[in-house]
Amino acid sequence: MNDAARLKEDAARHALDYVEDGMRLGIGSGSTAEAFVRVLAERVAAGLQLVGVPTSERTASLCRELNVPLSTLEELPELDLAIDGADEVDPQLRLIKGGGGALLREKIVAAASARMIVIADSSKLVDTLGAFPLPIEVNGFGAVTTYLAIERAASMMGLSGALTLRKNGDAPFITDGGHLIIDASFGRIPDPEALSAAIHAIPGVVEHGLFLGLANMAILADPEGVKVLN
Ligand code: 5RP
Repeated sequence: MNDAARLKEDAARHALDYVEDGMRLGIGSGSTAEAFVRVLAERVAAGLQLVGVPTSERTASLCRELNVPLSTLEELPELDLAIDGADEVDPQLRLIKGGGGALLREKIVAAASARMIVIADSSKLVDTLGAFPLPIEVNGFGAVTTYLAIERAASMMGLSGALTLRKNGDAPFITDGGHLIIDASFGRIPDPEALSAAIHAIPGVVEHGLFLGLANMAILADPEGVKVLN
């Protein structure tokens, strides 16, 4: 296992301390969340009882492969805890997510959960969000119009930078929900709440990757150990 993979596993193992028998658990997406699924599966094999709601088809398929019991938000509309990775975390536990393209289901699951714990290596901790391009999920209908509206809204807030349609090879990347993703390289985002409101107000925007007021704790692993922010 390389160093990066070890840090992801360290954070994932630490998160297991917060998983209790009988929980309804939201399970995130991305490589750190996958490390969590693997350590969770060991506990399930040892007798831990829980039911997971996955945030992506990819996470669902890994859970099935490792015999982690699954349900859906239709069956379990309220969850006890969501555990997920992040692309950036700031000291107020505001996040950028969506690097893996699962932000819509991740946000729905996080909002359905009484608590959200973020797991990551400590390189994801930043003073100010925005070095990681902000993923914005948009409807395919009128996507260019939506793109231009995002550009205008950002510019009115003094933000500029490239907006790029995410690709999968030569084709547009399509999310589990059937939408497109625009990655917005705004740079520093001094007021994430204002940007969130401005982007949400644009017709055609399905969701964006700013997770504000959702995370309760971040477990950040570095070679010296694990730090907990809450
Ligand atoms: C997927 C996500 C991921 O949680 C985020 O991209 C972090 O991924 P990784 O753990 O692979 O760094 O938001 O949509």
